[in-house]
Amino acid sequence: MNKQQSSDHIDKLRELINDYRYHYHVLDESIMSEAAADSLKHELTILEAEYPDLITADSPSQRIAGKPLEGFPSVEHSSRMLSLNDVFDEAEIQAWQERITKLLPPQTKLEYFADIKMDGLACALIYEDGILIRGITRGDGFVGEDVTTNIRTIDSIPTRLRMTAGSAKTFSSDRTEVRGEIVMYKADFETLNKERAKEGKPIFANPRNTAAGTIRQIDPSVVAERKLVFRAYDLLRDDTSEVPLNSFAYEVLSDMGFIVNTKAKVFTTIDQIIDFAKKWEFERLELPFNTDGLVVKVNDRDIFRRLGVVGKAPRAAIAYKYAAEQATTKVIDIFVSIGRTGAATPVAMLEAVVVAGSTVQMATLHNEGEIARKDIRVGDTVIVHKAGDIIPEVVEPLVTLRDGSEKVFVMPSHCPECNTLLVKYKAEDAIWRCPNHNCPSRSWKRIEHFASKSALDIEGLGEKNVIAMIESELVKDQADIYKLKVDQVIKLERFAEVSANKLVDAIQSKTKPTLARFVYGLGIRHIGTQTAIDLSNHYRSLEALAEATIEDLNDIEGIGEIVAESVVEWFAEPHNQKLLAKFHDLGVWPEKVEKIGGILSGINFVVTGSLDSMGREEAAEKIRALGGTFQSSLGKDTNYLVIGHNVGASKLTKAVKLGTTQLDEPAFLKLLES
Ligand code: IVH
Repeated sequence: MNKQQSSDHIDKLRELINDYRYHYHVLDESIMSEAAADSLKHELTILEAEYPDLITADSPSQRIAGKPLEGFPSVEHSSRMLSLNDVFDEAEIQAWQERITKLLPPQTKLEYFADIKMDGLACALIYEDGILIRGITRGDGFVGEDVTTNIRTIDSIPTRLRMTAGSAKTFSSDRTEVRGEIVMYKADFETLNKERAKEGKPIFANPRNTAAGTIRQIDPSVVAERKLVFRAYDLLRDDTSEVPLNSFAYEVLSDMGFIVNTKAKVFTTIDQIIDFAKKWEFERLELPFNTDGLVVKVNDRDIFRRLGVVGKAPRAAIAYKYAAEQATTKVIDIFVSIGRTGAATPVAMLEAVVVAGSTVQMATLHNEGEIARKDIRVGDTVIVHKAGDIIPEVVEPLVTLRDGSEKVFVMPSHCPECNTLLVKYKAEDAIWRCPNHNCPSRSWKRIEHFASKSALDIEGLGEKNVIAMIESELVKDQADIYKLKVDQVIKLERFAEVSANKLVDAIQSKTKPTLARFVYGLGIRHIGTQTAIDLSNHYRSLEALAEATIEDLNDIEGIGEIVAESVVEWFAEPHNQKLLAKFHDLGVWPEKVEKIGGILSGINFVVTGSLDSMGREEAAEKIRALGGTFQSSLGKDTNYLVIGHNVGASKLTKAVKLGTTQLDEPAFLKLLES
């Protein structure tokens, strides 16, 4: 982007972010997820860093929106209620540390104070000689709303500071300001919504909005009914030397009678903070309130002040946010990918962006109807969503960010690989297919699939090697790989004697696969790993499966008509029969199934996040080998959720809701061993 384009784009970003913030803070409603809005803010900050002269005083990066509402008197804050800049990963928190360290005299030993970031609304409480005289919402940071009458109904707000406990004594005279977060606990929120649903009233979207809406109720009795909680995080005294450390502020606040997070801790290195963040990534779900990250501050309040403020945020503190499941990015192009069954799927090529802890560069768009319905265009800024291990998806385009250069996607009429006319098998199908069985894209994908981990598990037959083999006409189908000789493989790029020998050995070691792996490896439409196991357990031999009728198949539990049809069609196709005959002649044939069942039979598992000791596929295989079922998503029938690293919050929340038993990796391994 040149400067003019950047400037136009910055304007649009600002408008959309302001819009979001207005809805969020003033109207207590959401026009997009907080994660998506954060992602836009991040983009704006990056663009503004590139063109600092384009920064304006009214940019959302410089100001907090939330206008004071009419109805409550406005009150000026004694000192601005600041906001925090977000960091999203280890590199960014390290960069923050380096930035502030450079501004301080060499050898300054920094201590950090990290706490859980509560998702509520900020509020300042003013005490004079220990007596509560006023409660003010954050508002725009300079001026807030006087909500004293309402906050008085909140039980956790002392109307008189406790003066008995040691350190609090000194702070009970003159003016004391306590800042903190008003939250609604998750359990109270759910009860409230249940009651509202029973009474036929509209339900609330989330605890934060409900808390914010409640505090602005004109009728204090409504506030009293809704169980709001105030949790303190800051203590201000006119003589700043009285509170030298943020950790000390927490001690005093607690003595004065406030709830503070007892889990907040002092650290001396960024690595310790990262560990702390990792620990809370899971444990936070057990907290009574919502949180989306940590607040990390320099502990020494003198250094904190000296580091100063940039825009709306102090340099000395940051919000360390957990991997968001949504982010915004740009669609660079839309292309059509041909799968091994011939399905022509439009795929969005994206500017790289981190979502749910991993970098996303592509997202499926499913089919042309879906693209039209969502109106996704090349060049659009879009919201992408990725939960745990799920393939990333485009949620929606942000149409207000368009500049007119975006291009509408037109589904090609012909296969981009072999130029065959794309067809729909049934008029009502959403998906176009390449009907050419020999389409190069389909051939290499079929072979790659056959060799993949869940199928025959032959290492060395990835995309690049298979394409090279097809191009040099060494292989045409899955059976041909068994004919490969070392001297042929050596001639291919990326191979030498050792690797060629290794590949041929790997292939030859897989001539007697299990029936389930072989059936899955054939790439029959709708046959995933679990269905392949079901078929294998039922038919016990490939010969028997090949003779199954639609009625037989339909009778098997878990196998519906679509799968039944697909299996019968596959075995009826002459080229598939030829392929099986070829396998047979080469001595490649699945073993008969002798014994079925196992200690995990009837038990359903979902694995989320990455495990240390094995990949997902391996975990799936181990579960299945013991007779268990590996499910791709959580349901009422899921017995265990196995939890690895980098887990999205939604899955865990769902598991808690469903009451699914959670297993960490050691517990899972123990279960497998038992
Ligand atoms: S310390 C300069 N500690 O997050 C502000 N804030 O995005 C320092 N928040 O306005 C605030 N939990 O409303 C701090 N444990 C915590 C917090 C916390 C939630 C809110 C607070 C602040 C916002 C910044």
